[in-house]
Amino acid sequence: MSVAILGIESSCDDTSAAVIVDGILRSNVIASQKVHEAYGGVVPELASRAHQQNIVPVVSEALRQAGIEKDQLSAIAYTRGPGLLGSLLVGTSFAKGMSIGLDIPLIDVNHLHAHVLSHFIKTDINDKSPEFPFICLLISGGNSQIILVKSMSEMEILGKTIDDAAGEAFDKCAKVIGLPYPGGPHVDRHAAEGNPKAFQFSKPHIPGLDYSFSGLKTSFLYTVRDNLKQNPAFIEENISDLCASLQYTIIDILLNKLKKAIKQTGVKDVAIGGGVSANSGVRNAVEELCRDLKVRPWIPPRAFTTDNAAMVAIAGYHKYLNKDFSDLGLPPFARVSI
Ligand code: KG4
Repeated sequence: MSVAILGIESSCDDTSAAVIVDGILRSNVIASQKVHEAYGGVVPELASRAHQQNIVPVVSEALRQAGIEKDQLSAIAYTRGPGLLGSLLVGTSFAKGMSIGLDIPLIDVNHLHAHVLSHFIKTDINDKSPEFPFICLLISGGNSQIILVKSMSEMEILGKTIDDAAGEAFDKCAKVIGLPYPGGPHVDRHAAEGNPKAFQFSKPHIPGLDYSFSGLKTSFLYTVRDNLKQNPAFIEENISDLCASLQYTIIDILLNKLKKAIKQTGVKDVAIGGGVSANSGVRNAVEELCRDLKVRPWIPPRAFTTDNAAMVAIAGYHKYLNKDFSDLGLPPFARVSI
């Protein structure tokens, strides 16, 4: 009998549902919430309300595209955390309700595990995936971590940010120069036209494999503020160079520690994941680093870098094979490492 898993993701500002049948992705529907753009960041209460509106149509559409009826599902996998509590509650309650209604198992998924396991999403039976143990550089709006992935369920954090995440550095600096939220993709676009050496921003000196991005953010802010005093048109005249230099510095910080981690662990496979792994500069730089170090790079398709339910469904599929089911009493959680 086929194993059909419905995955539900609602941890931040994307409502998503996906169906995986016997390990192959059949659908992945995402409703992004535009309502936050006007505020320059995600407003938690508005996110929860939008999830409430989106969840029924998104789940129905995922089932329709997969060609699956509700009663053919084997289990419901959902993001339990970390994320915004109100948003998580919508997906959690919906998943629990569906699991009770259909009398099928419920599977809780850690959002960060799901980002890592996005490398195991298959759209075709012949798709390849990394071999254990491998390193995953997980870079998103809320996290920047170097993770040693030992198996589908065993993951060790080797390094993490002590302040801002890489995505926050992109978004907060983008806001300073008037780019819309989330700023990462806009910086990426402008950076393609600019000179990465035009401006120099400060880099952290943090021991071990941990990251810090708050100093870079401050130095970016001061550069823009000081130059604006001399030239009110400074931002318009230099937007590409500012973005290219910012992106170059973030990548340099990220890759410096990634390189150390690869050398320390001796792994042969290196993956990236999370929203910031959609960045063109990051993708090229990781490929180049892996070529130099003679390890295999795993660069996910852009659709699986930002929040999506396909990664929740694949994490749920592997838990299902191990009969690792959840209790209906499990509450969502806002914060946790991995
Ligand atoms: O994983 P994700 O969807 O969810 C959160 O953890 O929030 O990541 C969102 C982050 C945002 O900070 C966004 O600016 C960043 O990913 N991002 C990018 C790019 N696309 C998305 N950052 C740089 N370049 C991009 N192309």
